[in-house]
Amino acid sequence: MPLVTVNPSGKSVSVAEGATILEAILAAGEKSLGKCDGKGQCGGCHVFIHDGRKSLSRIQREENERLDSIVGVGSKSRLACQAKLGAENATVELLGFSSGI
Ligand code: FES
Repeated sequence: MPLVTVNPSGKSVSVAEGATILEAILAAGEKSLGKCDGKGQCGGCHVFIHDGRKSLSRIQREENERLDSIVGVGSKSRLACQAKLGAENATVELLGFSSGI
């Protein structure tokens, strides 16, 4: 089971392979991100993935299109509700506007 570390809090949680990053974030006790119930439509669950990116599910067209519409997107960006974990551990950074900081 991959271990997901959520920054800036540093909380970490083990979740099943195939779980989404968003499910891991919620399991770590963070508040919910986004407003579309994980449908990949609101963009509110935009996070940076610092480690473990290669093991995540590939970006599909809808996620790519949504990311294209978000300010501040970079090469580490994913929508947490769309990125599924592979076997590797991952480190996720919640972004200021979505973590309530
Ligand atoms: S929760 Fe809306 S895009 Fe992920």
